[in-house]
Amino acid sequence: MSKREPATAAAASATPFLWGVSTSSYQIEGAAAEDGKGPSIWDTYCRQPGRITDNDTGDVACDHYHRYVEDVALMKTLGVGAYRFSVSWPRVLPKGRGAANEPGLAFYDRLIDKLLDDGIEPWLCLYHWDLPQALDDLGGWANRDCAFWFADYAALIARRYGDRVKRFATFNESSVFTLFGFVMGGQAPGIADRAMLHRAIHHVNLGHGEAIDVLRAHVRDASLGIVHNMQPCRPATPAPEDVKAAALFDAYWNGAFADPQILGAYPALLADLIEPYVQAGDIAKICRPIDWFGLNHYSPHYMKAWDGNPLGVGWGPAPDNIKRTSMGWPIEADAFRDTLLLLHERYKLPIYVLENGTANPDVVDDKDEVNDTPRIDFLKAYTDALAEARAKGADVRGYFIWSLLDNFEWGSGYSQRFGIVYVDYATGKRIPKASFRWYANLIKATSPRRVAAAS
Ligand code: BGC
Repeated sequence: MSKREPATAAAASATPFLWGVSTSSYQIEGAAAEDGKGPSIWDTYCRQPGRITDNDTGDVACDHYHRYVEDVALMKTLGVGAYRFSVSWPRVLPKGRGAANEPGLAFYDRLIDKLLDDGIEPWLCLYHWDLPQALDDLGGWANRDCAFWFADYAALIARRYGDRVKRFATFNESSVFTLFGFVMGGQAPGIADRAMLHRAIHHVNLGHGEAIDVLRAHVRDASLGIVHNMQPCRPATPAPEDVKAAALFDAYWNGAFADPQILGAYPALLADLIEPYVQAGDIAKICRPIDWFGLNHYSPHYMKAWDGNPLGVGWGPAPDNIKRTSMGWPIEADAFRDTLLLLHERYKLPIYVLENGTANPDVVDDKDEVNDTPRIDFLKAYTDALAEARAKGADVRGYFIWSLLDNFEWGSGYSQRFGIVYVDYATGKRIPKASFRWYANLIKATSPRRVAAAS
């Protein structure tokens, strides 16, 4: 039985608002080959010269595997009520299936226990892109069996941690890792094949539904969801081919996962393309009741027709007058507000914002401080937009900053810093930035974990 959260506006206003921070395994843990961990597709991908800026890897990253106590202490100082992290599948199942790796499992025991000791609720995401290499060798997400390997992995996690962890997300940003990994480039496994994309989309959806059932069966009082990256997809120009490209990209980016999972149907533009991989009963397996919608949001996309990849879609320029982050992403808080309102209408689930934040060219000054004013401006604008969406009725229950720490930013390696804590990669030293203090004050001012002012 789903423990769906109360969906009325009155229930929402009585529920304490949850402030949190998010990270992911490959981006922070390091210890890439330690204590029996198997390789993931990202370990492999990073070793292919030229894939990652400066040929960086996640081998050491923030060394969170060894420094998690210090990192949880930072969260306690910050005052967050929750921490969203991901489990590295190959750390606990080095070959992706079969024998579990006890030292890997024990690491997450220690992390979870420390969080609970410090009054921080663990939000566990099963998949933040680090697929075991051994499974990719068997076809990875393009192989239908991967959905069932994922469900078995979910069962292991549920049995091990379900006594202490109640909040589980199946996948982080399925559209991102499938689109970039299978057609657009820039992510593992680094394939350019549209048919493989369609298979992968369907198998990830199937894995989600299977895992939801497994988690529900094994974890008493489980509160389950999935994390989608939802961004408006706008045509970069009014040219009909760009309008068409933006609509197609919107179907893949915003619709290919949430629609079948919550509404029980693929978007019309994709249905025929995915149909060859759909077997009888699949849609019912995919469309399982979930308790909340996890939203990651950064900026709108401006798309154009482009023949440089198998999708025929690429990024066009955003309008000139829009400010950008150091990733080049447009800063448009109104789009965040509108996305929250739209999701509230469309999927009718409580929403938790599980990632929002910005990269900034941060530097440590001679007082050993990092004054990341542009990040504070960004976070102010986006949390104001969130308050506006709530005032207009969107049932938003929490907000998690991406990210606690500067970390391995995928294709950009360590060249982009998203943290509210600066990480000196040479020494591992952590320096809370000005934005950390800003967030701590916001949390305190909204009386532990409540958005009094905003509601
Ligand atoms: C991902 C994170 C990533 C962040 C910034 C999201 O797409 O979930 O892993 O670091 O955005 O790019």
